[in-house]
Amino acid sequence: MEIEQKYELVLKAYHNAYAKYSLFQVGALVILKDGHYFLGSNVENASYGLTNCAERSALFAAYSNGYRKDDILELVLIGKSNDFLYPCGACRQVICELMPQDATITLFKLTKLYKQIKVKDLMPYLFDERELNAE
Ligand code: THU
Repeated sequence: MEIEQKYELVLKAYHNAYAKYSLFQVGALVILKDGHYFLGSNVENASYGLTNCAERSALFAAYSNGYRKDDILELVLIGKSNDFLYPCGACRQVICELMPQDATITLFKLTKLYKQIKVKDLMPYLFDERELNAE
């Protein structure tokens, strides 16, 4: 997918954010190897702790539609911040389990400026399923 289309789609997710309490909108886009994609937005609640971040919304949508880790090519993210908007700690944990470690994460500023990192850059000392099976 061209960078221009990624920007347009993730911006759509940004505008779909339900962020009436923080007023901080975040958009995410999960791109699949087969060409399909899913948008995700942050969805807040009057019971604040029930908020779902944009990254998790998009990844859960992909998984809910039957896609799995090896089907995922890329995660795209957009939000308004001083630096690029990086995923929060909870989302990093989820991203590291649900996406391949060498998959790309594209981070857009609202201005369309972007940078790219890898999933494996997010979490040193990751807790994952290997620990659950430790002897
Ligand atoms: N938020 C995200 O959607 N993703 C992040 O990685 C950072 C935080 C949302 C959660 C909440 O709705 C708002 O941004 C402010 O924290």
